[in-house]
Amino acid sequence: MADFELDKLTQSSPVKIEKDGKSICVTRIGDEVFAIADTCSHSDASLSEGEISDYKIECWLHGAEFDLRTGAALTLPATQSVEVYAVTIDGNSVTVEI
Ligand code: FES
Repeated sequence: MADFELDKLTQSSPVKIEKDGKSICVTRIGDEVFAIADTCSHSDASLSEGEISDYKIECWLHGAEFDLRTGAALTLPATQSVEVYAVTIDGNSVTVEI
């Protein structure tokens, strides 16, 4: 079952969803959608409140950047990656695979 519709996602404007007990940060860039764990690996901040540039999201609290495609921590103070979830797009239906 789809989690949401593609055309409801604003470009480069991440949203937080809850699924199967997990908080997930979902971001649309072009016609691609990326899903990573919403909680920053540095401390307890919601990544979906961060800023997007290229394929990176910047944590609003201390500025660590993460790659939306791989979850890798790109800059300090974060040193650990965040989990990445596969996304299935079928027409206008978007599903995050847990
Ligand atoms: S909580 Fe995200 S960088 Fe510190």
